Amino acid sequence: MFVSLEGIDGSGKTSIGKMMKELYESKGKKVYLTEEPTRIIFDTKSIMEKDLDPFTRAFIFMADRVEHLKVIKEKISQGFIVICDRYVDSTFAYQGSALEKRFGSKDRTYEYLLKIYEPVSLDPDIVIYLDVEPEIGLKRIESRKREIFEKISELENVREFYLYLSKIRNYRIYDSNKDLKSLWQNILSDLNL
Ligand code: TYD
Repeated sequence: MFVSLEGIDGSGKTSIGKMMKELYESKGKKVYLTEEPTRIIFDTKSIMEKDLDPFTRAFIFMADRVEHLKVIKEKISQGFIVICDRYVDSTFAYQGSALEKRFGSKDRTYEYLLKIYEPVSLDPDIVIYLDVEPEIGLKRIESRKREIFEKISELENVREFYLYLSKIRNYRIYDSNKDLKSLWQNILSDLNL
């Protein structure tokens, strides 16, 4: 099984990923918890600190994913449940929202990014999308270093793109505006974990 966790910064993905891993392992399952961006080609995360064109970012994140997918596929074939903290929907939502003006619509932007992804694609069985208001998400990660996207108006656009994608990419949407405990309870009961 392949599960991805998506949401804007501070949505709780990383905590939920760890909780899912612990739960599956307590049931005797093998779990491979991983994340994007990776450090496979180079430290891809560092590109968030540079002033780069969104196309450049889209290609770099996609390239990182092509290499990451080799690892993911191998783990799946070895019987692991793979949980990925950010995956292709992060590129669709983050780079999509940055490119939307150039393409003129969300549909056309998504169509373009999907074309780059399609030849190498492996879609998750489940995409868990944690929906949070940017102000609440940002408060949660106040102590962490601010990255380029961690600004309210940009995150609002990213969230809007996620919500657009949620209708066409079959997300499981969870409200992450309240505490982590109730979010976890919702996920547990919905997914029968
Ligand atoms: P990170 O600190 O890992 O964020 P988080 O802990 O919230 O997951 O940094 C990842 C940043 O990279 C985040 O701001 C989103 C961005 N990103 C993209 O813009 N596109 C992508 O395809 C991926 C994987 C990440």
